[in-house]
Amino acid sequence: MEIIQFDTQQELDSYAARYITNLVKEKPQAVLGLATGSTPIGIYDKIVQIHNDERVSFKQVTTYNLDEYVGLQPQNDQSYAYYMNSHLFSRIDIVAEQTHLPNGMADDVEAECIQYDKMLAEQPVDVQLLGLGHNGHIGFNEPDQNLSGGTHVVKLKQETREANARFFDSMNDVPEYAVTMGVGSILKANTIILAVRGADKAQIVKDALTGPITTSVPASLLQTHPRVIVLLDREAGRMLN
Ligand code: F6R
Repeated sequence: MEIIQFDTQQELDSYAARYITNLVKEKPQAVLGLATGSTPIGIYDKIVQIHNDERVSFKQVTTYNLDEYVGLQPQNDQSYAYYMNSHLFSRIDIVAEQTHLPNGMADDVEAECIQYDKMLAEQPVDVQLLGLGHNGHIGFNEPDQNLSGGTHVVKLKQETREANARFFDSMNDVPEYAVTMGVGSILKANTIILAVRGADKAQIVKDALTGPITTSVPASLLQTHPRVIVLLDREAGRMLN
């Protein structure tokens, strides 16, 4: 596990964006695993800037997002489909059909999960971008006695709904369920970039990276992966030193 600490958020964003765009330059048909939330926004802005300044094309790139809420239409501005379109997809030359998110509106969500894993098996992720939840979740894999390997439906923990309520009009609007890639699917990526910022994540960063490998801290399973790059700002990394 490689851990890199940055003095500023901008440096962290630039590093992650440079890593991803270098991969796309070297391998135009790269498969990217993408995340939502507040952490990747600056990374996506920087990717758009590099795309414009250096004409890095995403036309042959395929993407798979980690998760999506159940019951939100892609047009809903709180859906992760909407987020991805506004922060990244509509701002680069990626082909819409090559961008994938779990379909939280499917009639048969279970069948959709199987289909998602099938596509992931056919197009393994070259680099997976991850954020970290305060309770150690990755994707929406919440702390539990058991973790699911593949894509599955999860009931969101109250603390996760509260953390995400800031994006919604009221707590009641925050969906109770989501579809997420499982920890097993996430760990199949060739390389994983875990980006974390903020003092409020310092303790969980320490637990996930240096504590025991346990399903009560899903991110601790990243310790078992051979190629994880952890990008931290000063505050998020302050308990490691
Ligand atoms: C988002 C996701 C979540 C977030 C995590 C951190 O697709 O899968 O695991 O990465 O909740 O969110 P932020 O970045 O908002 O602190």
